[in-house]
Order: sequence, then C-alpha cells, then structure tokens
Amino acid sequence: MHIEPVTSITPELLAAFARLLPQLTNAPIPTHDELQALIASPSRLIVARFPDENGPIVGSACLGVFRTPSGVHAHIEDVIVDETMRGKGIGEALVKTLLDTARLMGLKGVSLTCNPRRVAANQLYQKMGFKEWKTNTYWYDL
Ligand SMILES: CC(C)(COP(=O)(O)OP(=O)(O)OC[C@H]1O[C@@H](n2cnc3c(N)ncnc32)[C@H](O)[C@@H]1OP(=O)(O)O)[C@@H](O)C(=O)NCCC(=O)NCCS
Repeated sequence: MHIEPVTSITPELLAAFARLLPQLTNAPIPTHDELQALIASPSRLIVARFPDENGPIVGSACLGVFRTPSGVHAHIEDVIVDETMRGKGIGEALVKTLLDTARLMGLKGVSLTCNPRRVAANQLYQKMGFKEWKTNTYWYDL
C-alpha cells in the first residue's frame, strides 16, 4: 500500500470522500472548498492507495492540529478504510503515518476519542499503544 499527504483537491479525492465518509458517519460529504481549507490549515490529511501509488484511494485519516495558550495540540480524526479493503494493515499504516507526522512536529502526544461500539477501531488503537486517558468528554448540542 502507499500512504500520501493530500496536497491538492482533485475530483478523485472528492469521489473518494463521497464513498468513504458514509462508512464512518452521516456527516455531509466535504466540498472542494472545505477540503481546500483543511489542507491550507495546520492540520494534515492523508490518504491510502492500494496496492501501490497508482491504485485507487482506499482510506483516509486526519491529524487535527491547533494551537491554544497551552501549546500545540493534535487529535486524530476520521480514520476510515474502505469496507472492501479492511484487514490488510491499511488502518494501522494510516495511524502510524499520523503519529510520525506529529513526532516530526515535535509534539509530545496525540489524542483521539473512539466510541466503544467501534470494536475494530478500539482494538487498532490499543494494539498500537494508545493508552486510555481518564477524562470526561462532553458535548454541547447547538
Ligand atoms: C477501524 C478501521 C480503520 C481499521 O482499518 P483496517 O485497515 O481494517 O485495520 P488493520 O488491517 O490495519 O488492522 C490493524 C489492527 O486493528 C484491529 N482490527 C482491525 N479490524 C478488526 C476487527 N474487525 N475486529 C477486531 N479488531 C480489528 C486489530 O488489532 C488489527 O491488528 P491484527 O491484524 O494484528 O489483529 C476500519 O475498520 C474502519 O474504517 N472502520 C469504520 C470507520 C471507523 O470506525 N473508524 C474509526 C473511527 S474512531
């Protein structure tokens, strides 16, 4: 497989998100301009191709990066592997790439949240060495 950073928004990428995102959430499919804003920000968006760099996009993941007064924070979001391509190590390779990216940025750690019902994803993160972080997560409906 091949993992690459997204550096431009192409019709292929838009079609890939139209296919991949519903496998994670019912959030709206991102538009060209929304993805453009994402790659122009400090956050990093990566995709996986299979079987090599000439293959189709089969997965994606994002490292959300933002600064607050206490420092720069990074949060892994939207790790998705196409359902026909799971079990081949693609999810693990995507997360490893984001961890390497955060390390190169000089960050001390990376956070993520994962619903307990996402069995495969929880297994993946624990296998990779993520430790449960005892804190309360809150959500405010707007
Ligand atoms: C979670 C997800 C990204 C894993 O992608 P994947 O490419 O199939 O995962 P990998 O092949 O890299 O598997 C790596 C590890 O994850 C775990 N894992 C993967 N699939 C699993 C499954 N069906 N059941 C239990 N553990 C699983 C295993 O620990 C596996 O290691 P192993 O092969 O040595 O057992 C994929 O299932 C997915 O896209 N799910 C839907 C979206 C989602 O839930 N995203 C996470 C949001 S927090």
